[in-house]
Amino acid sequence: MISVTPVNRARSVPADQFLVTHADLRGGITYANAYFCEAQDCREKDLLGQPHNMLRHPDMPAAVFQLIWQRIRDGREVFAYVKNMACSGEYYWTLSHLMPHYDAGHRIDGYQCFRRAASDRSISTAEEAYRELRLIEHNTRSKEQGLAASRQHLDGMMSRNGTSYDEWVLSLATLDDEEDCLAA
Ligand SMILES: Cc1cc2nc3c(=O)[nH]c(=O)nc-3n(C[C@H](O)[C@H](O)[C@H](O)COP(=O)(O)O)c2cc1C
Repeated sequence: MISVTPVNRARSVPADQFLVTHADLRGGITYANAYFCEAQDCREKDLLGQPHNMLRHPDMPAAVFQLIWQRIRDGREVFAYVKNMACSGEYYWTLSHLMPHYDAGHRIDGYQCFRRAASDRSISTAEEAYRELRLIEHNTRSKEQGLAASRQHLDGMMSRNGTSYDEWVLSLATLDDEEDCLAA
């Protein structure tokens, strides 16, 4: 796997592009479209066969990935704001839509992810929430306890705001659409 050091510089994702990847059951990359390769600053041949966690940015909380995997393994779709680390070490934010893929016998045979650009306003809200989660994950003695506490905190943040995780993400996505309209 390519070893990358994070660089604190943003890459921009054009608003009219969908960054697509497919995965096998373990999260290995089986397909990457040209827009994704461009955003990731990586050649397709260097991505195929690699685990999706090669994209993981250290600012991303484990609790969000736990939620994602629980959902898609359970056969459901999920939306999430994800900060990715490009092969150059730079970062880019996306609103990601992940879902399972089914074979003809309705068995899950892989996963897919469609990503699009996120707005500054939704990024700063997600960033603030993720910072709290990362802090909990860092400051807890064991990885398992940290993950459980962080997940509990995420659920608590949502219930304090009287919302569910899905409603929260979709309310941020509305901000993305508004910013798109302003830019148009
Ligand atoms: C279809 C699909 C797309 C994914 N896309 C991303 C992504 O864009 N960025 C990312 O960090 N993880 C992505 N993941 C999640 C990774 O598999 C992994 O869980 C995550 O990077 C955290 O790494 P870790 O589980 O090793 O801690 C994706 C998973 C699937 C199944």
